[in-house]
Amino acid sequence: MGAARVIGSAGSDEKVERLLELGFDAAFNYNDGPVAEQLAKAAPEGIDFYFDNVGGDHLDAAIGAMRTFGRVAMCGAISQYNNTGAPTGPRNLALAIGKCITLRGFVLGKYLHLAGEFQERIAPLVVSGKVAYDVTTRHGIENMPAAFLELFSGGNTGKMVVEF
Ligand SMILES: NC(=O)c1ccc[n+]([C@@H]2O[C@H](COP(=O)([O-])OP(=O)(O)OC[C@H]3O[C@@H](n4cnc5c(N)ncnc54)[C@H](OP(=O)(O)O)[C@@H]3O)[C@@H](O)[C@H]2O)c1
Repeated sequence: MGAARVIGSAGSDEKVERLLELGFDAAFNYNDGPVAEQLAKAAPEGIDFYFDNVGGDHLDAAIGAMRTFGRVAMCGAISQYNNTGAPTGPRNLALAIGKCITLRGFVLGKYLHLAGEFQERIAPLVVSGKVAYDVTTRHGIENMPAAFLELFSGGNTGKMVVEF
């Protein structure tokens, strides 16, 4: 949809490989070193858009790398949900002023009116194979708590589904 390049971040080398297979132009393992440094290598000229599922160091790095009039869709902050102390970032939010960055929250329930348009645009891409996705399946309702916790340790690749 107009992006010149798409960069991904994941927590294992296997997942990074999978991102590249799926068509990402670059990807890095966020456990290999500071996210800001790895992002700067992957996008030396900066980024225009960041879809945030992680918060913390990832959002910090994205704001740091963002170009003027960049945009952030704030969908999730999984790195922050189990914090018992102060949030670990972003610590550079004031950069949003000079860079004229837009940070906007995104909650699925507020955009259901666009579900039809989403299906019309994405379904053909899925059918043609241009867009692919993974699903990790666990079985049995008794395994639901463990499956939920796996989201925080990266046990899933793609959508975590519990079948029962
Ligand atoms: N706004 C909304 O309407 C909405 C709705 C549903 C979910 N969400 C949010 O969207 C995000 C994705 O949710 P999802 O349900 O699709 O699950 P998901 O992408 O499968 O999220 C789980 C993955 O997050 C990664 N992760 C866990 N801890 C991390 C950390 N500290 N730093 C970086 N990555 C970490 C793990 O992958 P790695 O192996 O790569 O670490 C794990 O496999 C979450 O933040 C969730 O809260 C938002």
